[in-house]
Amino acid sequence: MAKFLVTGAAGFIGRSIAAALLERGEAVRGIDNFITGKRSNLAGLEAMEFIEGDLTDPEHCALACEGIEIVFHEAALASVPRSVADPAGTNLHCVTATLNLLVAARAAGVRRVVYAGSSSAYGDTPTLPKQEEMLPNPISPYAVAKLAGEQYMRAFARVYGLETVVLRYFNVFGPFQDPTSHYSGVLAVFCRRMLAGEQPTIFGDGEQSRDFTYIDNVVHGNLLAADAPKERVAGQMMNLATGSRCTLNETFRILCEFTGYNGQPAYGAARSGDIRDSLADIHLAGKLLGYSPIVDFREGLRRTVEWYRTCS
Ligand code: UD1
Repeated sequence: MAKFLVTGAAGFIGRSIAAALLERGEAVRGIDNFITGKRSNLAGLEAMEFIEGDLTDPEHCALACEGIEIVFHEAALASVPRSVADPAGTNLHCVTATLNLLVAARAAGVRRVVYAGSSSAYGDTPTLPKQEEMLPNPISPYAVAKLAGEQYMRAFARVYGLETVVLRYFNVFGPFQDPTSHYSGVLAVFCRRMLAGEQPTIFGDGEQSRDFTYIDNVVHGNLLAADAPKERVAGQMMNLATGSRCTLNETFRILCEFTGYNGQPAYGAARSGDIRDSLADIHLAGKLLGYSPIVDFREGLRRTVEWYRTCS
């Protein structure tokens, strides 16, 4: 019987966590509704028990949680612009789905839920780096939805004693991130386009910055969060990031080096709902989990380009 459940197991982050658990020899169950997850992402995860299901259906949640000890909740519609186009859809798949999952987890006797939070909860405040005690200030429907999920985690820890751990991710990138959607993360889009010799478009002046976080760091943080003592992490929220930032213009230049692209970027209108700068303070995850990044931005980007070059 599986001990770990990964929601969004056919998505970029979910499949990466599942792969790491399987590698450790764990018994893993995954669930995905394939709205944004891909069947091809399940390749290599054959040892995982898989449920095609939707967390908006409480019965699917109950089935997924049966016998499980620890849940990694990665399922979401992860995009700011998607949420601007369809706020109700984002709410359904990020908030309702999360609440359904928590209800089912509690009923099934799950011990711990590790939740994929988002740096977008901080919003567009000028203070950097972002520290956990700052008041949230979400400016997009996506940020509101991910923050609501966090608050449900906290409430279930307080009220029912479920061990919830919220990890606020900062712009995760790496192998298996979908580069084809209108809503794809910027690095996936840029890698694909630049490797194909196509001009990428920077929205705005390119001086916006992000704390881009390579996937291996996120997987590492999740495994630490699953293993950390209850007294230290239950009911807590912390940033999970690299702890350094890079502008899009600078990122473009590094990508030129790695991809061999020798053109210029196009510049388009700034995106609605975008924030200007993002940088995490990662001391709390260091203190509570013993976390520090294991792959830096430049090395992560190099590995990512190689993956898109050879595998996608
Ligand atoms: C936000 C959240 C992040 C969340 C992610 C999910 C913040 C700080 N981060 O990321 O936690 O996981 O949504 O999607 O709010 N861009 C271009 N050209 C493109 C595509 C994007 O210039 O072709 C720009 C965007 O306008 C933005 C930056 O690149 O300024 C990053 O965009 P994106 O990768 O979509 O992520 P965020 O919106 O920062």
